[in-house]
Amino acid sequence: MATPILKVGCSLVFTISLLASTLAQSDTYIIHMDRSAMPKAFTDHHNWYLATISSVSDTAKSTFTRTSKHIYTYTSSVQGFSASLTKSELEALKKSPGYISSTRDRKIKVHTTHTSEFLGLSSSSGAWPTANYGEDMIIGLVDTGIWPESESFSDEGMTEVPSRWKGKCEPGTQFNSSMCNKKLIGARYYNKGLLANDPKIKISMNSTRDTDGHGTHTSSTAAGNYVKGASYFGYANGTSSGMAPRARIAMYKAIWRYGVYESDVLAAIDQAIQDGVDILSLSLTVAIEDDFFLEDDTIAIASFAAMEKGVFVAASAGNAGPNYYTLVNGAPWMLTIGAGTIDREFEGVLTLGNGNQISFPTVYPGNYSLSHKPLVFMDGCESVNELKKVKNKIIVCKDNLTFSDQIDNAASARVSGAVFISNHTSPSEFYTRSSFPAVYIGLQDGQRVIDYIKESKDPRGTVVFRKTVTGTKPAPRVDGYSGRGPFASCRSVLKPDLLAPGTLVLASWSPISSVAEVRSHSLFSKFNLLSGTSMATPHVAGVAALIKKAHPDWSPAAIRSALMTTADSLDNTLSPIKDASNNNLPATPIDIGSGHINPNKSLDPGLIYDATAEDYIKLLCAMNYTNKQIQIITRSSHHDCKNRSLDLNYPSFIAYFDSYDSGSKEKVVHKFQRTLTNVGERMSSYTAKLLGMDGIKVSVEPQKLVFKKEHEKLSYTLTLEGPKSLEEDVIHGSLSWVHDGGKYVVRSPIVATSVTP
Ligand SMILES: *[C@@H]1O[C@H](CO)[C@@H](O)[C@H](O)[C@H]1NC(C)=O
Ligand SMILES: *[C@@H]1O[C@H](CO)[C@@H](O)[C@H](O)[C@H]1NC(C)=O
Ligand SMILES: *[C@@H]1O[C@H](CO)[C@@H](O)[C@H](O)[C@H]1NC(C)=O
Ligand SMILES: *[C@@H]1O[C@H](CO)[C@@H](O)[C@H](O)[C@H]1NC(C)=O
Ligand SMILES: *[C@@H]1O[C@H](CO)[C@@H](O)[C@H](O)[C@H]1NC(C)=O
Ligand SMILES: *[C@@H]1O[C@H](CO)[C@@H](O)[C@H](O)[C@H]1NC(C)=O
Ligand SMILES: *[C@@H]1O[C@H](CO)[C@@H](O)[C@H](O)[C@H]1NC(C)=O
Ligand SMILES: *[C@@H]1O[C@H](CO)[C@@H](O)[C@H](O)[C@H]1NC(C)=O
Ligand SMILES: *[C@@H]1O[C@H](CO)[C@@H](O)[C@H](O)[C@H]1NC(C)=O
Repeated sequence: MATPILKVGCSLVFTISLLASTLAQSDTYIIHMDRSAMPKAFTDHHNWYLATISSVSDTAKSTFTRTSKHIYTYTSSVQGFSASLTKSELEALKKSPGYISSTRDRKIKVHTTHTSEFLGLSSSSGAWPTANYGEDMIIGLVDTGIWPESESFSDEGMTEVPSRWKGKCEPGTQFNSSMCNKKLIGARYYNKGLLANDPKIKISMNSTRDTDGHGTHTSSTAAGNYVKGASYFGYANGTSSGMAPRARIAMYKAIWRYGVYESDVLAAIDQAIQDGVDILSLSLTVAIEDDFFLEDDTIAIASFAAMEKGVFVAASAGNAGPNYYTLVNGAPWMLTIGAGTIDREFEGVLTLGNGNQISFPTVYPGNYSLSHKPLVFMDGCESVNELKKVKNKIIVCKDNLTFSDQIDNAASARVSGAVFISNHTSPSEFYTRSSFPAVYIGLQDGQRVIDYIKESKDPRGTVVFRKTVTGTKPAPRVDGYSGRGPFASCRSVLKPDLLAPGTLVLASWSPISSVAEVRSHSLFSKFNLLSGTSMATPHVAGVAALIKKAHPDWSPAAIRSALMTTADSLDNTLSPIKDASNNNLPATPIDIGSGHINPNKSLDPGLIYDATAEDYIKLLCAMNYTNKQIQIITRSSHHDCKNRSLDLNYPSFIAYFDSYDSGSKEKVVHKFQRTLTNVGERMSSYTAKLLGMDGIKVSVEPQKLVFKKEHEKLSYTLTLEGPKSLEEDVIHGSLSWVHDGGKYVVRSPIVATSVTP
């Protein structure tokens, strides 16, 4: 039985609560089983798992124990189940027939209108009409739930729900089946894992209803219906809609404000696959240490199952940028999405009595108007008491104090308004969401204000908010928080795959979740502006739905290829996309993958790089994964690993070099083999065009590909020859296959890098 050492650890818990003692000794686990080992006596895997739990149970082998210990049976995502087990039960389970492996149930991290125009979507021509706005495609999201009454989920203009759909609208707190419609066609919720891990939690909204807002935001971004007059307190005012406004939404709520567990997320993905979603949009990740194996990442495993069933998985790269190796969700069978800015900024304008105007970034939502108010320079704004004496004036602060101290002082003194002068060229979103009228300006503009105050007998200022400026340049840029590659667990595939709009995205929100505070009053809104790779991901999920609608027979790899090879590498100034966190210097493919999503072009890519489940298995074999590791990912034991290759047929290239060693004159050669499938014009020829890669010799063989029929496959070899060690972190360039008629450019980024985890 359990070792004495463990008992000591648990006895503390016993004294706190006798009732919870049996649970306190247990931990929850996800257990992988080999279904081919199921004894003939069992008719299904669920009963086999229950019997297995019962056979290892410490306590009386009653039905009560086995059902209370069992949490979920997984059918489509992994082979196995989750359960609450004591150490000794787990040890006994390890000796049971069919047991493969187990992991502790871990916490999951959530990543936290105009975007469709910025992406070039229009109702007169292009991707939307071509794909019929994604009609009938089903996008599943695992998130915080949904606010079904939001206008984004109106089913106006939607056709009947397709008969292939097996999902449900589960009733629960403030949620019944009539809240689903022809737009929101599925709503389910998962919290058994959360409760097993923390039985004391009282869940007040035990249903798919979204008390947070995140899930309402992501699902309306992917497939929300048109809503006129959408705005965040007047900012971003316009008609909002999702990327695929005629696609359908199925919400699987597994993110709770009390915590998120792998066992619940896995149950949600498992069900989504069975229900028949076409696309999965995942804005979350398993929180694990660096350097893990893919078989340790349940989201990656579940996505493998989804991919095999033809479900396209879009996942966020995470918000831990901008350093190398900060990316998550990089399994080669998923599409990994980074976040970019859009060509829209929110501003206020400070007008001085002398007519000078200074604009500044803000999303201040309040109504306090500052018209022709006296301006008073308060140096450091160090004393709250001094600030309190100033009534009905705009204070101006500049000092060594940090930004946040000044803001806190001004807020607690309840000043009418404030101008903060600092050398931050662009204050973070945190500051621009101020709770009182605040102006953030740089040192140069600040000096103009100070000079004016000194020179004028009666210095005054007027501040207006709520200006939305579109067409700002340069855009897009990769934003600082966006997770960067390479992906430590699978370095041979370049990640992230692409960028999509992620910064200050307007979408629907839960009206019971506060969006801002003004003068200690919480504000609520049907729309919210949010930033994160979480926001970028549903954009791609929506566009993937458009592609799948236009090409129902395409594999997830073909859809990914279409998105990647047509992505834009240039911004709206026609220069390379820049990195907002690196002084607006050009970004590399390790930051942005193939570039920024271009929906129009992705519907008709000309050529695609396809890949099958077998190809990913060959990769795992070449990564020296054991049979057991591969079995956990593929849910099948039939792999001999005779064929192995790190060279996946992927639409991008990454090669590793040693870090710089001036003594080394050695040369190395990296070769890549790729196969293109013709999905464009029947008879068409393409010529290779290489760009960049300074200091590395790049060649392509053959340099011309001549296709004679549809779906014909032709192969080529790309060779990089360079010094064994690189002076730079990253050298990059691209290979484009350019259609001889000029109709298509099939572009792949190439990276040579010496960065190590
Ligand atoms: C997409 O197509 C629409 C309609 O043809 C066009 O207005 C828009 O400029 C295109 N956008 C891009 C990025 O090509
Ligand atoms: C669902 O709830 C709404 C609002 O509370 C109510 O009007 C409706 O009758 C309910 N429908 C069912 C099937 O219970
Ligand atoms: C939540 O609702 C489900 C389904 O009605 C029920 O089985 C479960 O016990 C409820 N959980 C809580 C914590 O109320
Ligand atoms: C949004 O814009 C429309 C038309 O430009 C205008 O009529 C409406 O008042 C604006 N709404 C808000 C909240 O600013
Ligand atoms: C601002 O004023 C408008 C119109 O009076 C009102 O609807 C809105 O709630 C006010 N906003 C805030 C943040 O007080
Ligand atoms: C900031 O502080 C340093 C040392 O405390 C002082 O020398 C300097 O003048 C200060 N700068 C401003 C702008 O107040
Ligand atoms: C700007 O602020 C940083 C700290 O945030 C400081 O290190 C730097 O010296 C400041 N520059 C100027 C010009 O004041
Ligand atoms: C796999 O193992 C072989 C033989 O030990 C080794 O040469 C190779 O570098 C390993 N591959 C990876 C990706 O670690
Ligand atoms: C290995 O790959 C070759 C060529 O791609 C193929 O013909 C063969 O069937 C594969 N063998 C296995 C066991 O998958």
